[in-house]
Amino acid sequence: EKDGHDWFMRKEIHEQPRAVADSLLGRRTPEGRLHLDEMRLSDQELRDVDKVIIIACGTSFYAGMVAKYAIEHWTRVPVEVELASEFRYRDPILDYSTLVVAISQSGETADTLQAIRHARTQRSKVLAICNTNGSTIPRESDAVIYTHAGPEIGVASTKGFLTQLVACYLLALYLAQVKGTRYGDEIDEVMRQLEAMPDHIATVLASADAIYAMAAEHVDTRSVLFLGRHAGYPVALEGALKLKELAYIHAEGFAAGELKHGPIALVESGLPVLCVVPPAGRDQLRDKMVSGIQEVRARGARTICLVEDGDDAITPYADTVIRLPKVPVLLQPLVAVVPLQLFACELATRMGHDVDQPRNLAKSVTVE
Ligand code: M6R
Repeated sequence: EKDGHDWFMRKEIHEQPRAVADSLLGRRTPEGRLHLDEMRLSDQELRDVDKVIIIACGTSFYAGMVAKYAIEHWTRVPVEVELASEFRYRDPILDYSTLVVAISQSGETADTLQAIRHARTQRSKVLAICNTNGSTIPRESDAVIYTHAGPEIGVASTKGFLTQLVACYLLALYLAQVKGTRYGDEIDEVMRQLEAMPDHIATVLASADAIYAMAAEHVDTRSVLFLGRHAGYPVALEGALKLKELAYIHAEGFAAGELKHGPIALVESGLPVLCVVPPAGRDQLRDKMVSGIQEVRARGARTICLVEDGDDAITPYADTVIRLPKVPVLLQPLVAVVPLQLFACELATRMGHDVDQPRNLAKSVTVE
């Protein structure tokens, strides 16, 4: 049942090209317009949306952070992303023109469920992004985008996360189509880029051995930092969460621009720092990231850089380079997170931990 893999998690990491492809399947009409099966909100209702609030927990929250960048960029609708557990306790400002998007792989997370119940009492429309057909959160929502990851057994979310990202991009593009903020051919172009992602993810998976070799060098590590910018920032947070969950080591993700505002004080000789470098097309972002990498390296950090193929500007400052396929910055999380999943899975395995059932964690968190 694990298809020859030692863990469900490793199997699920390798299923990601298919999971992403399945989550993209059947989303376009023969005329090429985006179509979402269980949208159930009318075009007029969506046109009336003037604010989006995304609520989620853990890995799903990081998907929500990427969604914010995509929705705001393509639709110009303001987006807030909020931890579900905080949401209803702060008296959030909601009304009928607020679209609340709940992201939950399981569809049973209590914090997220209570948050959408609160949103509905305020007359907001709720759209669920969910991987589990008929679970409570989609049942209590006005609309659903189902992801097609298939069952995710490993407690640590992997293919669930990638397919949530796909659903978020689809939602952002759909809103852009309905609101007319982007032309059809632009939406088409992004859909083509998305449809190329399964192959790009497969390319990253094909170099898993290099990442495993790197993990082998880090079995004595007690602390790791992850840096990213833009859509790479949630990737850094997700990489750190995976390491905490599976390897039980201290790991923190930061927006690289924040380094100088505090976290750089943590850097000492030999500290591994994983850096998600923005694609070269985004030179301003990329160059700022390079200077962050230089700063930590000057203080003795061991830098492991996830870099777009063909971008050699980082090589002089990287102790290890991991190549990523060339993709647009907003879609980069779909490839950049994969080496971080492999790294955490392998490191935890080498440390002798149960990767599928990490201590103290449950797959569905059904209590607040
Ligand atoms: O089922 P959900 O997406 O609502 O779950 C949310 C979190 O509990 C979940 O992502 C958790 O952080 C995972 N263990 C991450 O690997």
